[in-house]
Amino acid sequence: MTTISINPLDGIGTIHPNIYGHFAEHLGRCIYDGIWVGEDSPIANTGGFRNDLIAALRKLKPPVIRWPGGCFADDYHWQDGIGGREQRPRRINIHWGEVIETNQVGTQEFVQFCRLVGAEPYFCGNIGSGSPREIRDWVEYCNFPGDSTWARMRAAHGSPAPLNVTYWGVGNENWGCGGNFSPEDYGTEFRRTASFLRGFGGKQLYLIACGSPGNDVEWTNRFFRKLNKDYWAFNHIHGYACHYYCGTAGSATEYTTDQWYQLIGQGLQMEALVLQQRAAMDAYDPQRRIGLIVDEWGTWHPVEKGTNPAFLYQQNTLRDALVAATSLDIFNRHADKVVMANIAQTINVLQAMILTQGEQMLVTPTGYVYEMYAPHQGGKAVRAVVESETVTFKRGEKEENLPILAGSASLKEKTLFVTLTNIHATEACEVTVNLLGGASAQAGQARILSGEIHAHNTFEKPEALTPQSGALQAVGSSFKVNLPPASVMAAEIQLGA
Ligand code: AHR
Repeated sequence: MTTISINPLDGIGTIHPNIYGHFAEHLGRCIYDGIWVGEDSPIANTGGFRNDLIAALRKLKPPVIRWPGGCFADDYHWQDGIGGREQRPRRINIHWGEVIETNQVGTQEFVQFCRLVGAEPYFCGNIGSGSPREIRDWVEYCNFPGDSTWARMRAAHGSPAPLNVTYWGVGNENWGCGGNFSPEDYGTEFRRTASFLRGFGGKQLYLIACGSPGNDVEWTNRFFRKLNKDYWAFNHIHGYACHYYCGTAGSATEYTTDQWYQLIGQGLQMEALVLQQRAAMDAYDPQRRIGLIVDEWGTWHPVEKGTNPAFLYQQNTLRDALVAATSLDIFNRHADKVVMANIAQTINVLQAMILTQGEQMLVTPTGYVYEMYAPHQGGKAVRAVVESETVTFKRGEKEENLPILAGSASLKEKTLFVTLTNIHATEACEVTVNLLGGASAQAGQARILSGEIHAHNTFEKPEALTPQSGALQAVGSSFKVNLPPASVMAAEIQLGA
């Protein structure tokens, strides 16, 4: 028997909308030929940004988008991306295929894009090859409300009003492509850089420190040990950002049933990361002032045949959708600590929400999960305990088990929003939903994404896999929900008075 017991009275915390954030890097066809086609493109656009993409993204409701990298960020000099586009320098993107970066999308363009899709920008500063002064000046250019030279320049470039960029990453993967620092050396760089980053005009910046590679608790301990005695620096870390890519099993579209489970199991390791990283942080920050962030995560498959290996272009199937759904459920269940997560990446790179080919555009199964899960944003996460049957599969010669059911729940006034995933590749799952604390359901409706385990959208069949809506027999304090094999359900349940 598989059950989920939900107590609407047992609140965990507010689900920060930023958990549903994205990441968009100057990599492959994410920015150029992805979100940006240029004003002169035959593809309908607004200020160079594809209209079809803007419309599709607005439905997914990205609250925040991290930019310009990734590894790219620690070799990006923001002054290359301001002023007249024809005069902007041509640089080499040393991390991603040595392609020429034309800087046509810079600070003002990216903020404009965020406004078009309804998201906040999250800028990642250059710690690796840059300087404290460089990022300090970038903040001034973006946010200073007074009459400084940088603020005048911003006005001359089209934005007299401050751009109001709140989220600032102090480097990216500084343990690797962002400078190969030790945690202690990065701690020194963080402290030095943060000393010069000001909110201006009473505005509070939100500074995000580079966290561990995957679930590396040693990096976290060494970084916080270095800074926690330093009252000033410690108080200027608002978020601490880990990265976790769960990798692949088989390829993006070709995998066995065992590989289906293997990858979903790798995705579920996110729970161990959140649990262990938050426990490590608690030792230095018992008041839990610093938020845990996962500002890059997702699947990472071998690139599509015939595409540039440096461009990280991959297809996206129902399996990726289940990795997304179960990861988002983990973040929801840790709403008291996880304040932001940014899936990699928005479009045409890694686990993308959107793929494009010339004039064509499609929403991936992962994109539909974001649309289905959007009502969780800003809800009160409530305790949802799953007791699940398991499925056994093989990894090499070893047998492993996974629970069939995963899920999370949130509450907005009298509406309970429940997301459930049936991981079983071939069997339906009957779930008993128990409402605790005297709660009782009056009615419900659901959207379901399900199909054969390899199902995905192609440019020939862009809507082969889309969520389907239906009524839900949700009445009383206990009711049953039938989940098809390999499915994600998002259910809105009206609770009685
Ligand atoms: O998302 C692709 C790359 O993965 C990013 O540039 C880097 O931060 C990470 O290693």
